[in-house]
Amino acid sequence: MTDVSWRERLQSLTVFSGQLPTFDTDAAPSDPNELLTEWLGFALEKEVSQPHAMSIATVSSEGAPSTRTLLLKDVTPEGLWFASLSSSPKGRDLAHNPRAALLLYWREQGRQIRVVGDAEPGSRELARIDFLKRHPNARAIAAGGQQSEPLPASDDDYLSAVGAARERIDADPDYVPDEWQAYLLRPVEFEFWQADRTRDQLRLRYRLDGDVWVRDLLWP
Ligand SMILES: Cc1cc2nc3c(=O)[nH]c(=O)nc-3n(C[C@H](O)[C@H](O)[C@H](O)COP(=O)(O)O)c2cc1C
Repeated sequence: MTDVSWRERLQSLTVFSGQLPTFDTDAAPSDPNELLTEWLGFALEKEVSQPHAMSIATVSSEGAPSTRTLLLKDVTPEGLWFASLSSSPKGRDLAHNPRAALLLYWREQGRQIRVVGDAEPGSRELARIDFLKRHPNARAIAAGGQQSEPLPASDDDYLSAVGAARERIDADPDYVPDEWQAYLLRPVEFEFWQADRTRDQLRLRYRLDGDVWVRDLLWP
């Protein structure tokens, strides 16, 4: 037990420390995809922890928002790729409403990237390549397609279901469940946020207007 309140403990924490990268918004490229890969490359170069872990927010058919962490699987000129089960809650949300919001946060660099766009299923071939790269146990767990369903009451039932799925994977190492899906999020909006020691923060937004990216600096 401590006498110090949560408010005091939380408010005494430092948010950013050390050297932060600079962000010259005047020199930023006109195409936000270029800035995304520039920042991502820098995060990899500087060994930011889990630079490919991103939050993704979706909205259900009842209008309820939800977020979760997913891995960024690829960045192409079309957009950002992730993979999951189409039968999961997020997969059902996206089938109903493809609009989704992604967030990358690199605390070591004081950087945040927000991306909004529509997510669409990629080819079966991409889903296959992605699925087969997963560890056999991860494939077995995903194979049933029950992500986020309540577990059976007994551990034995769960273990025997995963064991049966693992046997199936071992017998057919190329097995890919129909529900495993590579998704492409085609961005319509980006915001690049940089913590800055002297100015507090810098924010550059890009919005797609027709086929032109319109840039705005945002009030912090
Ligand atoms: C670092 C990290 C990476 C994750 N990567 C994935 C992923 O690539 N695909 C996935 O389906 N779930 C991934 N998860 C699990 C999801 O956050 C989530 O629990 C799961 O997809 C169920 O989400 P849903 O119920 O909203 O559909 C990851 C979790 C963490 C913490």
